[in-house]
Amino acid sequence: MVGTSSCHLFSLLIPALLLLLLVILSSSPFSSHQFPQVLTSFSPFRRDDTAPTPSPHVSLDGVSSTSMYKSSKHKAAVIKKKSNPEMIEEDLAKARAAILKAVRLQNSTSDKEEIFVPRGSIYRNAYAFYQSHAEMVKRFKVWTYREGEPPLFHNGPLNNIYAIEGQFIDEMDSNRGPCRARHPDEAHVFFLPLSVTGVIHYVYKPITTVKDYSRDRLRRLVTDYIDIVATKYPYWNRSNGADHFMVSCHDWAPEVSGANPELFKHFIRVLCNANTSEGFRPKIDVSLPEIYLPFGKLGPPDLSKSPDHRPVLAFFAGSPHGYIRKVLMDYWKDKDSEVQVYARLPKTLNYTKMMGQSKFCLCPSGFEVASPREVEAIYAGCVPVVISDNYTLPFSDVLNWSQFSVQIPVGKIPEIKTILQGIPESKYLKMYKRVKRVRRHFELNRPSKPFDVIHMVLHSVWLRRLNFRLSP
Ligand SMILES: *[C@@H]1O[C@H](CO)[C@@H](O)[C@H](O)[C@H]1NC(C)=O
Ligand SMILES: *[C@@H]1O[C@H](CO)[C@@H](O)[C@H](O)[C@H]1NC(C)=O
Ligand SMILES: *[C@@H]1O[C@H](CO)[C@@H](O)[C@H](O)[C@H]1NC(C)=O
Ligand SMILES: *[C@@H]1O[C@H](CO)[C@@H](O)[C@H](O)[C@H]1NC(C)=O
Ligand SMILES: *[C@@H]1O[C@H](CO)[C@@H](O)[C@H](O)[C@H]1NC(C)=O
Ligand SMILES: *[C@@H]1O[C@H](CO)[C@@H](O)[C@H](O)[C@H]1NC(C)=O
Repeated sequence: MVGTSSCHLFSLLIPALLLLLLVILSSSPFSSHQFPQVLTSFSPFRRDDTAPTPSPHVSLDGVSSTSMYKSSKHKAAVIKKKSNPEMIEEDLAKARAAILKAVRLQNSTSDKEEIFVPRGSIYRNAYAFYQSHAEMVKRFKVWTYREGEPPLFHNGPLNNIYAIEGQFIDEMDSNRGPCRARHPDEAHVFFLPLSVTGVIHYVYKPITTVKDYSRDRLRRLVTDYIDIVATKYPYWNRSNGADHFMVSCHDWAPEVSGANPELFKHFIRVLCNANTSEGFRPKIDVSLPEIYLPFGKLGPPDLSKSPDHRPVLAFFAGSPHGYIRKVLMDYWKDKDSEVQVYARLPKTLNYTKMMGQSKFCLCPSGFEVASPREVEAIYAGCVPVVISDNYTLPFSDVLNWSQFSVQIPVGKIPEIKTILQGIPESKYLKMYKRVKRVRRHFELNRPSKPFDVIHMVLHSVWLRRLNFRLSP
């Protein structure tokens, strides 16, 4: 069994780094004398109980210091002579410093003429995000392990509701993919190109009894894969998996870590099923948007109308699975011409068109917390109304969802109409415009483009990588 020992091969969240994630998370750029206060209130973000208590002293000294690499009982494990965690960490230190500077000066620097500069209230901190994204594009290197064969590895669904899983794997495997490391020694993070959807599709066959649903096979496959790469290469062991990640949209994906929580303690799981009640850890894991892709397409047709051509106040159509949708159906199905809720959309209506003609689109959780509706709504210029419990919304490290969506607690489902009617037209128009602006971050491009959904997923992983460093 690999990586179960608790030797501290990497240090987590030293003060300067603690600062960093908070900078990203914080809306108002703050001046340096506020840092100590910020740091001391930051403890919930700590990833490891054994990490040293951050001192309330602000300094970036530690970030550029190399002394931490001196003792070297693990150097022996480093196979390739090119291996250079020191250089990798220096590179990351530069990125951290640049982001902090951008926040301090409220300005960003970039080597390139940028086609797009994030600005405005949809971001928690636009300066930090812009600089962080630029640093990522410039420096971030992801190694996709070559081990494993299709159809379980290097393969995944490219359409339907789990499409983002296969599209991401495919993009990272592609020569044109973003942030590719040419050699694992130069990588900041390591990607396990396993498709949980593929495993369910090919391994879980036939299913004849309830016992056949047992997650054991899935867990064993993932654990075996980690075993292989951890034995063959030094990378897993040197970080206990903290710079390793996988991506899956399948409901079962969170369960990969069920049999051996210790092994997955630091491992980054990028999941659609970002249910904190089911063990999703917002500071380590990444919430992945679910994007329904029709066969052979990268998104639905654009049938989005301007705000004055949206006669429907609120719209939902979908099967009534899960406790939240049951409540929604009980109150609203076929009841109201302004709040239009359907379990089955009449043949005369077109789903995409309906979203394009509605002001608000209801996005209730079903069996799982994630639904493709948040993204569909954003594509359709319809303000998402998120109705869920325990859901961590995608990219919420960077985006301020309350600026472009409405959150309605499950208990207030009966009040949907009153709540939405209570939103003044001027506020709705602002939200509508922000939905249009945030759309870029949910668009899928192949090959991926800066600031699109694949870059946003990578950026989420990049942020998590910035928050720890390798050390012997
Ligand atoms: C990583 O650790 C495991 C278990 O501690 C060990 O079996 C494996 O050989 C190590 N890998 C390397 C490359 O040293
Ligand atoms: C997010 O937006 C809300 C208003 O919608 C605002 O109250 C809150 O301060 C913002 N949060 C951040 C981190 O910017
Ligand atoms: C921000 O940076 C740009 C160049 O990167 C520079 O032209 C501009 O003057 C700077 N603005 C401020 C307020 O420092
Ligand atoms: C999940 O949501 C419910 C209802 O909002 C809440 O009572 C509970 O504390 C949440 N659990 C977690 C782990 O966040
Ligand atoms: C809705 O209409 C558009 C454009 O006419 C079409 O491309 C799309 O397939 C239709 N959607 C459905 C779900 O029928
Ligand atoms: C989230 O997880 C909890 C605990 O397993 C579960 O009760 C709840 O139904 C889940 N939420 C959804 C929408 O699946």
